[in-house]
Amino acid sequence: MSNAKNRAPIKKIVFPVGGMGTSFLPATKAVPKEMFPVVDRPLIHYAFEEAREAGIEQFIFVTARGKHAIEDHFDHAAELENNLAKKNKKEELERTSGWLPKPGNSMFVRQQEPMGLGHAVWTARHLVGNEPFAVILPDDMVHAKTGCLKQMVEAYNETGGNILGVMNVPREKTSSYGILDIDAGTDGNAKLVKAKGMVEKPAPEKAPSTLSIIGRYILQPEVFKILDTQGPGAGGEIQLTDAICQMIGNIDVHGFRFEGTRYDCGGLVGFVAANVAYALDRKDIHDKMKEELEAVYQRSEQLRKSA
Ligand code: G1P
Repeated sequence: MSNAKNRAPIKKIVFPVGGMGTSFLPATKAVPKEMFPVVDRPLIHYAFEEAREAGIEQFIFVTARGKHAIEDHFDHAAELENNLAKKNKKEELERTSGWLPKPGNSMFVRQQEPMGLGHAVWTARHLVGNEPFAVILPDDMVHAKTGCLKQMVEAYNETGGNILGVMNVPREKTSSYGILDIDAGTDGNAKLVKAKGMVEKPAPEKAPSTLSIIGRYILQPEVFKILDTQGPGAGGEIQLTDAICQMIGNIDVHGFRFEGTRYDCGGLVGFVAANVAYALDRKDIHDKMKEELEAVYQRSEQLRKSA
């Protein structure tokens, strides 16, 4: 099937940031999970930078009650900026607001009810309009030389259609992911894999493969029409995976094996690991960080032995 008409440039992104972040309670009681820092930037900031690197110009946040810290992050902080300017702290000023999107290029819409990822994305339909768009789930960090979404946009420019960031997970983990159904003959290492079906969170014995969707999507606007009438799926939620699956046959859906390391910041271990990885990656603190980590590890091993 030709996707020539499904290759319009990707200028808009949807960030679903309405989640309750229950894995991190009580930390998420008053602070949105997306504002948790990895080293010195909030999770959502990494997603924003990755989107910008991929050529995205308009940023749509699907938020919920109690999430205004995210809005404030993407706005000027006049008092802080005035104080920094007075003290001629140029570098700090740059870090505070040098990166802000142009006025009018960040948009916020509330999901109102936590009805699932498909519902969250559908909530952004009027702001996206009739053009293809990207989605990043900020919980899924991809540490890579070239941002994951940029890699996907490059693949999209060749292939068009819908493209999902994917990676293989251990079979016992399939019930945490959207899983692609692919042809048996598909090259196990191919970068781009055509999907013939998809299932949200299948039990390991029922999973059609172990190729899992990581929180990166390039989607055609037809997905909104499907979501208009879609009922609940796995976990009683309106699933994005189910809507994308409905497009197969009309518009191609490809899985794209990105280069980079994914950290699942929706869970405690992944989030702490991301902090360690990103800190070690920073030239200014790498050596001290390594020393500190080695010492911490030694101490904790000793404590465990003496316990
Ligand atoms: C969501 C999607 C799932 C995807 C996952 C990636 O699930 O529904 O298809 O594989 O993100 O992190 P969630 O983690 O929100 O349950």
